Amino acid sequence: MKSKKTWGNVSSPIIGARALAADDMNREEIIERTAAFIRQEFSGEASGHDWHHIRRVWQTARAICEIEKADSFIVQLGALLHDLDDWKFNDSGDETPLRARAWLDSCSVDPVTAQAVCRIIQRVSYKGAGVEDTMDSLEGFIVQDADRLDAIGAIGIARAFAYGGYRNRPLYDPDLPPRIHASFEEYKNSKSATINHFYEKLLLLKDRMNTQTAKRIAEERHNVMLNFLDQFMQEWGSNK
Ligand code: ADP
Ligand code: NI
Repeated sequence: MKSKKTWGNVSSPIIGARALAADDMNREEIIERTAAFIRQEFSGEASGHDWHHIRRVWQTARAICEIEKADSFIVQLGALLHDLDDWKFNDSGDETPLRARAWLDSCSVDPVTAQAVCRIIQRVSYKGAGVEDTMDSLEGFIVQDADRLDAIGAIGIARAFAYGGYRNRPLYDPDLPPRIHASFEEYKNSKSATINHFYEKLLLLKDRMNTQTAKRIAEERHNVMLNFLDQFMQEWGSNK
């Protein structure tokens, strides 16, 4: 005889809701732990990649994510971990996300999410004016936009000169024209003056934003840089 008692095989909506809540809680906890870890790792950094850079990128990425309706867990992990394996600060000179992967594993982040986050980290960086971006997910577009918004405007100007000082670069060298780098190698090996960096990267970012939200924010920040460069050249005077 066929049993009528079928409910035992169907997951109860109440238990389902509890499982979801527990999962969300776990995610929040992972984000909090990751933020605390990164804050510790990046505090006292003086090249423009300090904790407050990460905090701003995280904040901006969350705001764009709300509008663009992307996966907030992936976006937040991507934003928090995006500079942990930066080529400028590790021995290998590339961005294989070894440290990020180890951290995600230590938090038991599921493999699909971890893979998506690592993919973002590997593709987030600007690699030269003549090098195409290869980001390929909405979550990645958002993290990349948030990172790039922090490279332009008033904060962007401050960070560029902080980085230039850290690398012993001159503020400006009128005899050294900016270059459009055709490869990541060329861009990486460039040692030009900080003002050149505006023409080699910062002024180009407005047109390389992915989301409409970031494009809008970039307009104003772009103009701040144009005004700054005008004023800088006026104060610089003649080179003769
Ligand atoms: P992204 O995360 O987009 O790859 P980077 O990590 O290359 O950005 O740069 C981080 C910060 O350092 C940015 O604010 C950028 O303007 C600055 N920076 C990078 N390279 C230079 C440079 N050659 N001269 C001046 N500033 C630089
Ligand atoms: Ni960054």
